[in-house]
Amino acid sequence: MGIVGKKRGFSALLLLLLQHLLLAFLITIVFQSFTVVSGLNYSDYRQVSSLRLQRIQRHLDKINKPAVMTIQSPDGDIIDCVHKRKQPALDHPLLKNHKIQKEPPERPKLSKILNQNEAKDEKKKNTTNYMNEQVLEGAWQMWHRNGTRCPKGTVPVRRSTVDDVLRAKSLFDFGKKKRKIDLARRTDAPDVVSANGHEHAIAYTGSSLEAYGAKATINVWDPSIQVVNEFSLSQIWVLSGSFDGSDLNSIEAGWQVSPELYGDSRPRLFTYWTTDSYQATGCYNLLCAGFVQTNSKIAIGAAISPVSSYSGNQYDISILIWKDPRLGNWWMGFGENILVGYWPAELFTHLADHATMVEWGGEVVNTRANGKHTSTQMGSGHFADDGFGKASYFRNLEVVDSDNSLSSVHDISILAENTNCYDIKSYYNNDWGTYFYYGGPGNNPQCP
Ligand SMILES: *[C@@H]1O[C@H](CO)[C@@H](O)[C@H](O)[C@H]1NC(C)=O
Ligand SMILES: *[C@@H]1O[C@H](CO)[C@@H](O)[C@H](O)[C@H]1NC(C)=O
Ligand SMILES: *[C@@H]1O[C@H](CO)[C@@H](O)[C@H](O)[C@H]1NC(C)=O
Repeated sequence: MGIVGKKRGFSALLLLLLQHLLLAFLITIVFQSFTVVSGLNYSDYRQVSSLRLQRIQRHLDKINKPAVMTIQSPDGDIIDCVHKRKQPALDHPLLKNHKIQKEPPERPKLSKILNQNEAKDEKKKNTTNYMNEQVLEGAWQMWHRNGTRCPKGTVPVRRSTVDDVLRAKSLFDFGKKKRKIDLARRTDAPDVVSANGHEHAIAYTGSSLEAYGAKATINVWDPSIQVVNEFSLSQIWVLSGSFDGSDLNSIEAGWQVSPELYGDSRPRLFTYWTTDSYQATGCYNLLCAGFVQTNSKIAIGAAISPVSSYSGNQYDISILIWKDPRLGNWWMGFGENILVGYWPAELFTHLADHATMVEWGGEVVNTRANGKHTSTQMGSGHFADDGFGKASYFRNLEVVDSDNSLSSVHDISILAENTNCYDIKSYYNNDWGTYFYYGGPGNNPQCP
């Protein structure tokens, strides 16, 4: 009896074990994707439990809003036309009663000193600014080539996929930038941190600045990225608060190549915001509630095409970020007069007032994947000295003052952690105002 009992107990245990194994087998999906796109290895052996998949799916259901219409982009993106009032922004607890603005009551007064469109510089012959031609024709983002447009009253939103989330370290990290603040840094210089592998070549304003916005025209390249979890970006930062604190407010926009975020190596238009030094608040693009999109033709996070080529045609984009003095929303303008959307005033603490610093330039992540400095490129992959047509540039650097007027910024400092890897050189002329060339190849004999 006793033995039988024991036997029964044993077989019951065995059965339970088998059941568990079977269950574990059934609920475990093994992702083995062997996709190598443009030299990048996306191979991933990750065992994803159904629980994790469910959690990811729930998150995607929250951020991928029901589409009125869907547009398939030739680069594989899916663009959902989402009703304006259904966009992710309005899920933010602080925006429950937010009334979507169609446009700002006031736009910044343009700089009188420079008339950028009448510039006769030789360089201009080879330069296409997306504000003048493609934007009006409407074919400067990859998905525009589908030919279909989002209907009135909707905004185009790049759909996030399970793979997008799986490439991130965690669901929490998905859509977030890890720009750790270095506590040991000088308090009057911008956040430059080599410790966590982020490297910069940037221009920045003095710490006494009271800015209500910033603008620049940036040429677009497709820098190569060495490993999937590195990125290369070129952007404007509008900052307020302290780099030493946990409540730095930052609004950012520009173009970026981020295989982890997008699954490919194309340069894409992006936005970012945070109100707690890149910790829990904020995200890229529309990947969390916050940024309110108003434009029905521009998809944030969508690929830009064509891009600049070495000794060939240059393509640049103009980005303006400014605070509407009446309602306090921070707007994003594209080109000369196109509104993309805004970061509602409700989101911010320090930026509820004004910005204390503006930065322009490039940032890459250097993970030293094979024990050497990354070969991920910044900008065009060429150093500043190479100049027009070869090096990447930011031109017509401007800030918005308390009078809501744009003016050329004169008092800038430049900074690059290791000029053998990436560098920056700034200049001034009547045509481009304050401008700089920046970038580099990363790994080379001088940058081991
Ligand atoms: C990609 O990475 C996987 C896993 O690390 C490896 O087995 C595979 O050989 C790599 N493929 C290429 C083409 O480098
Ligand atoms: C445009 O998108 C639609 C909807 O996804 C798709 O059916 C169609 O094939 C796409 N057209 C082109 C030219 O890519
Ligand atoms: C302009 O582009 C053409 C090729 O499209 C090139 O041959 C020429 O050198 C470029 N000029 C400048 C000033 O970059």
